[in-house]
Amino acid sequence: MSTDKELATLVKAVINNEARYVSQYPYCGAFQPPPESGLAPSHNDWADGVTVNPPVNNQTVFECKYELDSLCGFLKLSRSYYQATKDASFMNSNWFAAVDQIFNVIWEQSQSSFDEDYNLVSFYNWTGGNGALSPAVNNVGNGEPRLYSGLVGTHHRPSDDLSTFAFLVPANAMLSVELTNLAEVLEATKQAKNISQLARNYSTTIKNAIWETTIVNNIFAYETNGFGGRYVMDDANVPSLLSLPYLGFLNKTHPAYVATRNLLLSRKNPYFAAGKNFSGIGGPHVDAWNPWPMSQISAIFGTDDDEDITRSLYLIANNTQGLGLIHESISIYDGSYTRPWFAWANSYFAEMLLDLAQRKPHLIFKDGKPYTPGQ
Ligand SMILES: *[C@@H]1O[C@H](CO)[C@@H](O)[C@H](O)[C@H]1NC(C)=O
Ligand SMILES: *[C@@H]1O[C@H](CO)[C@@H](O)[C@H](O)[C@H]1NC(C)=O
Ligand SMILES: *[C@@H]1O[C@H](CO)[C@@H](O)[C@H](O)[C@H]1NC(C)=O
Ligand SMILES: *[C@@H]1O[C@H](CO)[C@@H](O)[C@H](O)[C@H]1NC(C)=O
Ligand SMILES: *[C@@H]1O[C@H](CO)[C@@H](O)[C@H](O)[C@H]1NC(C)=O
Ligand SMILES: *[C@@H]1O[C@H](CO)[C@@H](O)[C@H](O)[C@H]1NC(C)=O
Ligand SMILES: *[C@@H]1O[C@H](CO)[C@@H](O)[C@H](O)[C@H]1NC(C)=O
Repeated sequence: MSTDKELATLVKAVINNEARYVSQYPYCGAFQPPPESGLAPSHNDWADGVTVNPPVNNQTVFECKYELDSLCGFLKLSRSYYQATKDASFMNSNWFAAVDQIFNVIWEQSQSSFDEDYNLVSFYNWTGGNGALSPAVNNVGNGEPRLYSGLVGTHHRPSDDLSTFAFLVPANAMLSVELTNLAEVLEATKQAKNISQLARNYSTTIKNAIWETTIVNNIFAYETNGFGGRYVMDDANVPSLLSLPYLGFLNKTHPAYVATRNLLLSRKNPYFAAGKNFSGIGGPHVDAWNPWPMSQISAIFGTDDDEDITRSLYLIANNTQGLGLIHESISIYDGSYTRPWFAWANSYFAEMLLDLAQRKPHLIFKDGKPYTPGQ
């Protein structure tokens, strides 16, 4: 973006478009094409039989599953654009309206399920109907009860699957990082002091809650409920625990990360699996014996060990089944796969190679020299 103005314009348009959607429907994660595109809204079979509150208009919204990571993604895209271009013109009234909505969601989803008189506190609820991707959500669309801990709740995971416990730790880690980044961009451009202060406050509150409420014996939980319930596992989709260094939450040498990583890449993680063809972390989105190449990419971002990096790289490269593209998941039993050209995994793979091109050039280049794109 710093060398290609048209690419920068495209990304700025994506930010503007997302700002429009987030300001209207901050709880939703997938949208119809904007009216200016001339494309008709498409019907989402998986949203049939779903009741969502607050209600949504299906001419704008494609699906209204609430994923905290979607809001983090909007913040990350905005600050990455600013960092690359130093252009602050995306911060228009729509963008500030979207940011205000994000703070509303952060506040609402930090609250306990019940107030002091046991009134139900529900700002968003989603009841699934038919279809494998829409299981019924218990407690009339509210999910498992939760108690205030400083973390922000989510309903669905980055995989689209229903959360077991609301406080998804890696999504909170990403949020804490991106709120600090948001504050830095606002301070650098001397805008909205009220928002930068609020962002710093929440960033610290969330970070402290992660360190104080989710770790036992150096092991991060994937999800917690604020009552002491912890689900120790990981899912391949980012934000994940394995990707905490990639997200910028901690150093890959931190003892809590190293201990958690060792557990996650072993039998102690219910969604780790290994077989003759492939191994890694998967998730319930496909099933527990189809790990995802994305998890091997996160693993590479999380280590400086040359042998570990090389093993993960070859596991990925040896398992494209002749297509040269990264799949969604691969069976440990026979190498069969889902979604042959999963766009998210392919761009994550490219991002990882660009990182290795500077961090570990001797592993991927014959001349062993670091390479920086655009130079
Ligand atoms: C939107 O909802 C209405 C009413 O349920 C339905 O008739 C229509 O087909 C839906 N449109 C799309 C694009 O899903
Ligand atoms: C669902 O959420 C709405 C707010 O969007 C709230 O008014 C309603 O009470 C909630 N219903 C249940 C059953 O939680
Ligand atoms: C910050 O202040 C502006 C201008 O007074 C206001 O419109 C906005 O809602 C405030 N945002 C937050 C998150 O307090
Ligand atoms: C955030 O703000 C609240 C209310 O002003 C304050 O009580 C709390 O200590 C602040 N937290 C941090 C981490 O700054
Ligand atoms: C991580 O910690 C190591 C020392 O343990 C240090 O050399 C390195 O610079 C740190 N990396 C980052 C990104 O802070
Ligand atoms: C990948 O394939 C190469 C060439 O067949 C083989 O030497 C290597 O052991 C394989 N590595 C992994 C991790 O499967
Ligand atoms: C799975 O592994 C077996 C044994 O190494 C090999 O013969 C087979 O070709 C692999 N399948 C695929 C789809 O890579």
